[in-house]
Amino acid sequence: MTTKPIDLLIYNIGTLLTLQGSNGPRKGAEMSELSPITGGAVAIQGERIFAVGTEEDVRAQIAGMTIIQSIDARGQLVTPGLVDPHTHLVHGGSREHELALKLQGASYLEILAQGGGILSTVRATRTATEFELYQKAKRSLDIMLKYGVTTVESKSGYGLTLEDELKQLRVTQRLHETHPVDLVSTFMGAHMVPEEYKGRSDEYVQLLINEMLPAVKQQGLAEFCDVFCEHGVFSVEQSERILSAARDLGFGLKIHADEIEPMGGANLAGKLGCISAEHLLAASDEGLRSMQQAGVIAVCLPATSFNLRLKNHARARTMIEMELPVALSTDYNPGSSPTESMQLVMTLACLNLEMIPEEVLTAITINAAHAIGRADEIGSLEVGKLADLVMYNANNLAYLPYHFGINHVNTVIKRGNIVVSDGHFFSK
Ligand code: NIG
Ligand code: FE
Repeated sequence: MTTKPIDLLIYNIGTLLTLQGSNGPRKGAEMSELSPITGGAVAIQGERIFAVGTEEDVRAQIAGMTIIQSIDARGQLVTPGLVDPHTHLVHGGSREHELALKLQGASYLEILAQGGGILSTVRATRTATEFELYQKAKRSLDIMLKYGVTTVESKSGYGLTLEDELKQLRVTQRLHETHPVDLVSTFMGAHMVPEEYKGRSDEYVQLLINEMLPAVKQQGLAEFCDVFCEHGVFSVEQSERILSAARDLGFGLKIHADEIEPMGGANLAGKLGCISAEHLLAASDEGLRSMQQAGVIAVCLPATSFNLRLKNHARARTMIEMELPVALSTDYNPGSSPTESMQLVMTLACLNLEMIPEEVLTAITINAAHAIGRADEIGSLEVGKLADLVMYNANNLAYLPYHFGINHVNTVIKRGNIVVSDGHFFSK
């Protein structure tokens, strides 16, 4: 029997940030421990990591094995593939006209109450064909990949009828099957009350519970269910009904909680044991504590609070002090956060959430992986995990958020394949 070769060896890595050895999501001081290796290497077999450590150790472990291909990292920085745990990737149209309204002083909820905002994207998504939605989302996924993101969570929620929600979810499924980036699908029919149910939100909640959730489950199109719990959208009581029904069907639970008004969404996330709660700008100490006790991950979205020009931001420092694990995400969507760039999120997390670069990297790798139930496969560089990793045109982590607004990624390896090389798509 011949031993299998090493398909890819990355060597001469200046700083290799492995994030190895997490026992659950990282919290408190653990968030700044990245298990770094100076002078590292990673050996890959098939789509998984075969060996990772100092170059000396790795070369000793693979001595005598054939090495098919090698990459000289030239002393640069290597991290796990970035994970974006909260996006509204699949949608029709765009909303640049809202920029002027915003500059004239209209708030996000005011634009929404006038039938704009999410509702205008719902109209554009309903009229788009599945192929148009696929093409548009693919362009965004391509950008994400070039910016170092190898796994993305994608929510529906711009269809708001059973057929249109299924259409969005089928696009997500097809992207997962055809694009190098792995997708994790969330059903968010409870993103908004559609115009045809205006003033009858409880009837829409019944439709979600009785028809939409069971159909999505039956077709196996989503793993998680998310609800926008917000003033003028879904109340805490409605959110609880929807999420409880989703839990009974076997969905994992997520909630857009306490983004603008302090509604008690964080408390609900704790009460229901959601895997994650998102936004949280207005969450109370008590709400955050209830999340901490229930093991809920706080997903902070600093690009959204930046773009909505909100005066406050998620209280990441308080969260970290109270040992609540923090993840970060773009919240990529056509309204509150039209950006695919996790590198911009890194900068905003430092400047506006006052997180240090080490905490930020934890929040966009291992903790983000936990927030979408994938930490056994991705989020850190460990033997047996998927070989998803990123090499930068930088030799230290702080340089990435410091030199902002540009793409620092040089090479992306996804499931052992070189998918981006020298900043460009690469195929063998
Ligand atoms: O997470 N908050 C609700 N949903 C999105 C915004 C969607 C939109 O404006 O189209 C968010 O920010
Ligand atoms: Fe969102």
